[in-house]
Amino acid sequence: MTAHRVHAAPADDLRSLHQAAEAARTHAYAPYSGFHVGAAVRTTDGCVITAGNVENVVYGSTMCAERAAIFRAIAEGHTRFDAIAIAGPAGTISPCGACRQVLAEFMAPSATVIFPLDTDLVSVRLSELLPHPFDPPPGA
Ligand code: THU
Repeated sequence: MTAHRVHAAPADDLRSLHQAAEAARTHAYAPYSGFHVGAAVRTTDGCVITAGNVENVVYGSTMCAERAAIFRAIAEGHTRFDAIAIAGPAGTISPCGACRQVLAEFMAPSATVIFPLDTDLVSVRLSELLPHPFDPPPGA
């Protein structure tokens, strides 16, 4: 994985996307894990849509912040995204496998994913997180 640190310039737009994810974290509903995550997706025409994770007493019904943000955006009529930022507690918070497949549904392999990797904020391509998404040929 080629993880690029997100420096102040020229990646200011990516940093501000991450700040939006940090803000969304404050609305996460995570009473069971105590693990509050925020995500911010950017549409190809520049809109930013955010969400936090939403847990449930039936633990398997929990929704990750990344999918919550994508689904919220779809519900609002957006269809294509070029970047997503994830914010969470200290450590490495990269999208889970299920979220990666959902990102691949709506984002190009070259889309940007920003997340905390140890002490750094890094930027990688979606194709580096999910090199071989499930992508059956039409009619298969
Ligand atoms: N979680 C996310 O929202 N996104 C991630 O990338 C990893 C995990 C949530 C799911 C659950 O509510 C909590 O974090 C602990 O797994």
